[in-house]
Amino acid sequence: MRPSQQMKAINLEWLRQAAPHRHLFEHRWLGERFFHLPGDMIALQEIVSAVRPRLVIHTGIAAGGGPIFMASILELLGGDGIVAAVDPALRPEGRRAIEEHPLRRRIRVLEGSSIDPQIVASLRALAEERSPVVVVLDLIHVQAHVERELELLGPLVTPNSYVVVLDTVMEDLPAEMFEGRPYGKGNNPGTAVAAFLQRDDRFEVDYSFEDRVLLTLAPGGFLRRRPEPAADGLAASPGG
Ligand SMILES: C[S@@+](CC[C@H](N)C(=O)[O-])C[C@H]1O[C@@H](n2cnc3c(N)ncnc32)[C@H](O)[C@@H]1O
Repeated sequence: MRPSQQMKAINLEWLRQAAPHRHLFEHRWLGERFFHLPGDMIALQEIVSAVRPRLVIHTGIAAGGGPIFMASILELLGGDGIVAAVDPALRPEGRRAIEEHPLRRRIRVLEGSSIDPQIVASLRALAEERSPVVVVLDLIHVQAHVERELELLGPLVTPNSYVVVLDTVMEDLPAEMFEGRPYGKGNNPGTAVAAFLQRDDRFEVDYSFEDRVLLTLAPGGFLRRRPEPAADGLAASPGG
């Protein structure tokens, strides 16, 4: 069931009132700071356990906990899945957390921008040998950057898999929450998704995650890549 307007308003008000508490920045996963809402953790875990990616591309490292969270789910699932974690401004805290972590063998750190041609080429090479691929975008939140990430990294997502664009919720929150920031209402991951979907019909919004977890930073940001049309014009089955 799609949440009612009232339910959506309650969620937004919750996020607005929680912001001064900086609650998002106090969460820990196995001791490492990371910045996900519990609902988004469930949704990301569901995607990874359904798709069973051999590669998760995760832009935005911060304190390291985001990539470590994804690596943990991959470890629990078995298999040889890895996380390619990208950040142009890697913090010492994030570097240390990953380098010293027992799951470090599952994490490749790429220092640079997610839209830099060399980084994109490295990610493309990894994706070519590691299908299926899931992408999570949580780096620079201005529209131009996220739109470019979607253009460059979206095609690496395998059919029936997902690119998750975090912080689309900025478009629904009051403008004053982002005063002094380069992003905010009208210029954020949500507007990037809207612009991208207008010209790329390989993806569709899958609302099923947000409809169940309700409290999310990524409303409209769970983008599923449609199955490739088969040679006979029919969509290929999810199995192949
Ligand atoms: C929201 S955090 C990522 C959080 C991570 N996904 C997690 O859950 O732990 C965004 C990251 O993007 C990087 N970043 C944000 N804006 C940037 C900018 N303008 N230039 C370079 N890096 C930036 C910062 O290094 C920061 O670590």
